[in-house]
Order: sequence, then structure tokens, then C-alpha cells
Amino acid sequence: MFSKQLASFVITLGAIRVASGALTRRVACADGVHTATNAACCALFPLVEQLESDLFDGGECGEEVHESLRLTFHDAIGFSPELGGGGADGSIIVFDDIETAFHANGGIDDIVGVQKNFMQEHNVTVSPGDFIQLAGAVGVSNCPGAPRLDFFLGRPQPKAASPDLLVPEPFDNTTKILARFRDAGFNPNEVVALLASHSIAAADLVDPTIPGTPFDSTPGIFDSQFFIETQLRGTLFPGTGGTEGEVMSPLRGEIRLQSDAEIARDPRTACEWQSMVNNHAKMQSTFKAAMKKLSLLGQNERHLVDCSEVIPVPKAVVGTPHLPAGQTRADIQQACAASPFPVISADRGPATSVAPVPPS
Ligand code: HEM
Ligand SMILES: *[C@@H]1O[C@H](CO)[C@@H](O)[C@H](O)[C@H]1NC(C)=O
Ligand SMILES: *[C@@H]1O[C@H](CO)[C@@H](O)[C@H](O)[C@H]1NC(C)=O
Repeated sequence: MFSKQLASFVITLGAIRVASGALTRRVACADGVHTATNAACCALFPLVEQLESDLFDGGECGEEVHESLRLTFHDAIGFSPELGGGGADGSIIVFDDIETAFHANGGIDDIVGVQKNFMQEHNVTVSPGDFIQLAGAVGVSNCPGAPRLDFFLGRPQPKAASPDLLVPEPFDNTTKILARFRDAGFNPNEVVALLASHSIAAADLVDPTIPGTPFDSTPGIFDSQFFIETQLRGTLFPGTGGTEGEVMSPLRGEIRLQSDAEIARDPRTACEWQSMVNNHAKMQSTFKAAMKKLSLLGQNERHLVDCSEVIPVPKAVVGTPHLPAGQTRADIQQACAASPFPVISADRGPATSVAPVPPS
């Protein structure tokens, strides 16, 4: 009697196990450490570890991460239904002689060379298109506050170089930038979402005399300081005309792209921009969704395997949205007509200088 009950209990347990196993469909990877929903993803775990140790200095959100994120964009945005280009296909690595010479790709040759060497030295078997998006997603996971980006595996080899003039430039006007993104399939809100990338970013070449100059005061943290600080009243470039605000950052050591300044103030994008200031969850979820779309430009998701589970889980954001020391609410150049700028705390004390991102 007892043993019969026990037997049926054991059978029930077994059935539950099979059922839940079927729901998640996890397989054990040959390394004996990881499991994956698709066995094809298993091979990526050691590659992710190598990226962290050998490319990203053991897990930093530094220059190599910033450059790798920029590269995901410059490879993928080479896509136009009219003009051609294979999108997120790795063409910027394979046809680097052609694409790194494009004006808009200035400075990208560094990370293209680094990733190309990495692929050779580590006998990487995933395609260049996959590798660029994988490195970007792994790199972003090192930045506290970032969302855990998706990664899809299986992009074929690129067929040709992207045509020139598909990558937006910082002195393009907002109409031109939005039209370029529209052509690639992104609406204005998605453009704002993608520009959260400039929260973990710096410029080497906009002003070559000050390499590593960040776009916000916290280039190692995926936070909304970028959206706040671009909204501060700017100071005019000496000797040039221009509209107030569409110009230099008032913070010493910080640089502002004309395109970011204008998109922050344009009626088509200003309210979406402002909405990121005190809504970190929105900044994360919209960036994640737009990055997924970017990483799949020119690709068919149904032909790829979802290996997002190999991407490390980022740490929580550090700090809260604030006005940098020396700035007050009156220094905000309100641009959204529909709602006031959110109330945020102001750092006390005298204005400080933003440190450059050290070269790796
Ligand atoms: C309106 C569209 C955009 C324009 C005009 C633009 C322009 C620029 C420029 C001029 C730089 C500085 C390059 C240098 O001097 O070193 C830069 C850096 C960067 N951009 Fe953008 N960008 C745009 C959109 C994006 C998007 C959509 C992403 C990614 C999803 C992105 C990611 C980055 C990153 C991470 C950096 C920093 C690179 C580093 O620190 O080395 N950008 N961008
Ligand atoms: C890559 O492959 C070569 C030749 O098969 C081998 O000598 C080398 O050790 C491999 N490198 C790595 C990092 O696995
Ligand atoms: C934006 O730039 C385009 C292309 O350079 C130009 O044709 C257009 O007139 C500009 N629009 C505005 C509003 O300045």
C-alpha cells in the first residue's frame, strides 16, 4: 500500500519534471557548466568570457565598450530599401577598406582593426555580423544601468560593402537625420531611444585636440545624465553664429554634438527626450527594443537563433538623475511644449570638470 502510493508520488514528480523541462527546453552544454535553450548557443559562452577578459579589460564599461557599441550602429545602419546595403551583416569588418574610408565612419577603423584581430586570434567561428552585435551586447552589459540586450545568432557572411552616405553625421540637420532613420525603419521616438547610447560615449575626433571627451558626466554608466545635460543652455562656439543651446556644453570637459543638441530641442523629439530624464525603466526598455531592431536590420529573425541568454546581466544603475554642480533649474532650456522639465536634485558645490575617458 505504502510503496504503491510512493510509486505513484514518484511518477507524478517525474511527470512534473518532464513537463517543466519541456516548457523551458534547456539542454546541458558540453562544458558541464552552462545550459541553454538552444544547443547552438552553447559555443558562445567561452567567446563571451574571452570578450570580457581580452577585449573589455575584465568587464569595464570603457573605451572599447563604447567603440564596440558605436560599431553595432555603423555596421547596421548601412541599410536602405532604396539604396542598398546589407544592414547588420559585418560588411564594415569584411569590406573595411571601403567602409572605414566613409567620412561618417571617422575613427571607426580602430575598433574594426581590434575586432578583426580578435576574431583571427581567437579562431572565432561566428560570422562578422554576429560578432559585431555580440561584442556590442556583451560590452553594454558592463555598464551599470544598461538593459540586458538581446543577441541573435546566425547572420550569413556579408555580400558587399554598404553604400556611402547612410551613416548620419553630427552636422546633419534633424530633418535629414530623421529621414535617414525613417528610411531604415525607425520612427522619431526610436531615434531618441537609440541615442541613449550616447550616455556611454565619448568623442575622439569631433575636437581632435581633446580625445576621449564624453557626451555626459557619467560615460561609464547607462543613465539619463546625457538627456539632462544636453538640455542645459549651451555656450556659443566662439566666432560662429548658431542658436542658443545648439552648441557647446556648459560643463568643462564635456562635448555636445550639434545633432544631439538639436534633437533634444526639436518639436518632433523634445518631449520624448525629456521623458527619459526621470524614467530609467523607459530608457532601458526603449533602448533594448530599438537595439534589437537595429541588430536585425537586413536580417530575417526567423532564420536566426535567439541566444540572448548568453549576455551577462548588467548591474543596477548608480546614482540618481541630477543637475551637475553649478547648474540650476534655470539653466535648463525647456523644449518640450507639453510638459515641464521634471524636478530633479542639484549637486551642491562649485562646478567640477568632467574627466576624459582614458584610452584603452
Ligand atoms: C543621430 C545619429 C548619430 C550621430 C550623428 C552620431 C554621431 C556620433 C559622433 C560624431 C561620435 C563621436 C565619434 C568620435 O569623434 O570619436 C559618436 C560617438 C558614439 N556614438 Fe553616435 N551618433 C548617432 C547615433 C548613434 C547610435 C544610434 C548609436 C548606437 C546605438 C551610437 C553610438 C555611439 C557611441 C557608443 C559613441 C562613442 C564611441 C566612443 O566613445 O569611442 N550613436 N556618435
Ligand atoms: C587557433 O587555432 C590555431 C590553429 O589551429 C591554434 O594554434 C591556436 O592555439 C588557436 N587559438 C585559440 C585562442 O584557440
Ligand atoms: C536640412 O538639410 C538638408 C540637406 O542638407 C537641406 O536640403 C535642408 O534644406 C535642411 N533643412 C533645414 C530646415 O535646414
